[in-house]
Amino acid sequence: MNARLRAFADGGGPVHHDREMDVYVISSHEAAKTVLADPAFVTDRLDRLLPRLGGFDELPSLLNAMLRLFMDGPAHDRFRLTVTRDLAPKRIEEMRPRIGAIAEAALDGLRDRPAFDIVADLAYPVTAGVIAELLDIGVEGARALLGFASRIFAVLELRPDEQQLLDAGEAVRDCATFLLPLLPERSANPGRDLISSLVTLELDGAPLPIEETLTIIVQILIAGHEPPAHLIANGALELLRHPAQARRVRDDPRLAASAVEEILRLDSPIGYLSRTATEDAVLAGNPIPKGAQLVLDLAAANRDPARYDAPDRFDVLRPDPGHLSFGGGAHYCIGRALGRAEAEETLRRLFVRFPDLVLAGEDLTTRPSAAFHALDRLPVRRA
Ligand code: HEM
Repeated sequence: MNARLRAFADGGGPVHHDREMDVYVISSHEAAKTVLADPAFVTDRLDRLLPRLGGFDELPSLLNAMLRLFMDGPAHDRFRLTVTRDLAPKRIEEMRPRIGAIAEAALDGLRDRPAFDIVADLAYPVTAGVIAELLDIGVEGARALLGFASRIFAVLELRPDEQQLLDAGEAVRDCATFLLPLLPERSANPGRDLISSLVTLELDGAPLPIEETLTIIVQILIAGHEPPAHLIANGALELLRHPAQARRVRDDPRLAASAVEEILRLDSPIGYLSRTATEDAVLAGNPIPKGAQLVLDLAAANRDPARYDAPDRFDVLRPDPGHLSFGGGAHYCIGRALGRAEAEETLRRLFVRFPDLVLAGEDLTTRPSAAFHALDRLPVRRA
């Protein structure tokens, strides 16, 4: 959430109409939860972006197809059907030892370093390793793809500029060029990875068209890489700032899961969610006209004093954090089991392997983004 929206959310009550941006900022837990659960509030990113893509006939094809997967409608329903099985909690539990091994290998690489950066040296290598595993493309392949994917994130911002959209369209094409040769290979020789699963899947008796397969993979790349990386870095920061709680997590592996829920509540990697009202509505006593754009401020909702005792306190033992950091309703994060497992496996190991870890300065900057609550760097050192 950018500073302007934040200021409104702080001072403007649970529902605030920002006239200049013409958005309704929702900052109470109850109102945000209501919006997420109500199918009258839809995701319509493409409708908002398309008019601004006018004139770039070449650009939108794959990017449009990809964005359509995020939007309410048949393409979105199909998308969820295609990937649900591969990201289901049971499948992720089977993957968990590999996720632990990926985190362990990243930490091995830091063993002899007196100082390092949690973001660049741990969080991104772990999530890239997990993407490599999920797609079976090797770490180099994952790095190449994620380099392209990072240019696509602009479409998640509230008001991306034309150049960013153009670049995002080209980046989707770069991803497709990388992935295209893999599809026939996996089809002929399928493994346990997500690409194999997609190329061998039949929906309504027919295989997925190639374009759909490509855009699904790209979607998973962009949705599945950055948020868990930021969750790991944000979580490391909370635990470094609360050493007694870090010790508890280190000493009792069962606490990793509740610690990660509390980190998700206090430091949601996603800053806001956007919805459009398809009919007139009333939220917390405020009229919302049909067609209005809503911005759900997750940081505010997750710290709503009406929902949480001592909402700003970090407490790894907090019962039922019930945060909204994975969204809810039709778009409820499909990769939440994987994201949780990545953060749990990495954060606990970090404090087991480096019990003497401390922050190397408090001069921390966050990414200039409303979409992500993300640290640029998190320098640490051995005490
Ligand atoms: C742990 C960190 C993660 C966080 C905080 C997170 C958060 C979210 C949120 C808030 C949404 C809802 C977006 C909306 O309603 O507009 C979402 C959707 C989604 N997430 Fe995650 N996510 C995480 C990890 C992952 C991972 C690891 C994957 C895949 C490998 C993934 C895949 C997706 C997909 C595909 C969607 C779109 C679902 C839909 O529109 O139906 N996420 N995520």
